[in-house]
Amino acid sequence: MSINLQGRHLLTLLDFSPLEIRYLLELSADLKAKKRSGQVGDLLRSKSIALLFDKPSTRTRCAFEVAAHDEGGNVTFLENSHMGKKESLEDTAKVLGRMYDGIQYRGYAHRDVELLAKHAGIPVWNGLTDEYHPTQILADLLTIQEHIAKPLNKIKLVYVGDARNNMGRSLLIGAAKMGMHFMGLAPKALWPDPLFIERLSATAKEAGAVLEYSENIDDAVQNADVIYTDVWFSMGEEAQMNERIRQLSPYQVTLSMLTKTQNPDVIFMHCLPAYHDTNTKVGQEIAEKFGLEELEVTNEAFRSRHSVVFDQAENRLHTIKAVMVATIGRR
Ligand code: CP
Ligand code: NVA
Repeated sequence: MSINLQGRHLLTLLDFSPLEIRYLLELSADLKAKKRSGQVGDLLRSKSIALLFDKPSTRTRCAFEVAAHDEGGNVTFLENSHMGKKESLEDTAKVLGRMYDGIQYRGYAHRDVELLAKHAGIPVWNGLTDEYHPTQILADLLTIQEHIAKPLNKIKLVYVGDARNNMGRSLLIGAAKMGMHFMGLAPKALWPDPLFIERLSATAKEAGAVLEYSENIDDAVQNADVIYTDVWFSMGEEAQMNERIRQLSPYQVTLSMLTKTQNPDVIFMHCLPAYHDTNTKVGQEIAEKFGLEELEVTNEAFRSRHSVVFDQAENRLHTIKAVMVATIGRR
């Protein structure tokens, strides 16, 4: 497939057509095979990439760094720049645009990544904002393709949890683009703004996607190919922990929920990090405060044969590499 994405931003998956997304997935699979075969690449040779993080990260940062290195590029990791403090986003974007070939930004308001993209003059990739997490969705789509022998437009994905958060919204966009059956399973208070869903209806119709929401676990999970969840309170939402635990406790992903799909091959997905045990500082605090040792997914389900979470994590590398190669790589 020959598609030219040079110079393009990735702020949400709405920036790419279904054909372009399919191209990125194919390129990801090719780059994954290339790495597995031990080949060293130079598709990002002499390319400099700025990595701006206003929130913590393990996977996204590592994926960008290793991906750039694998193809001969170099990165600068910035978490304590002047941006937003002594220097506006606009001015920082203009400065970085004079030195770098691409910028990854992880932060809070989505408007911030839009501002960077508007002023940088080079491709800007959204590594997560409060509203969207598009690079994660590319990894998720690749993982689904690897694990399920059906085209994406035959997949039913049930997203359980805060359906308004960056993951709930981004998976909805991915599903609409790729013609999937998306089912958001959450209390109504945690469904996205109907206007947001409405704005996707033309895209969904064109691709043959079904986008729906339910509060009823038994109905929603029927025949699911994928059960996907995320943390109940996202980075920056720690103050809402009590309320979210109250709202979402009935929606914890358990082996029983996976069984209710009536699909023995159902896969369990999570973007990670996950609260599935008390082997973390926050996990321990939650256990002491609420008496809960696991939140959005039980340890049993997380470690079950259904779980593909570490394949997803690895695929962040291959898909982020594809995004960089496609948008700033040597041709
Ligand atoms: N899934 C994800 O974005 O992980 P990090 O927060 O570790 O980057
Ligand atoms: N919704 C989560 C995703 C983490 C990858 C958060 O924003 O914290």
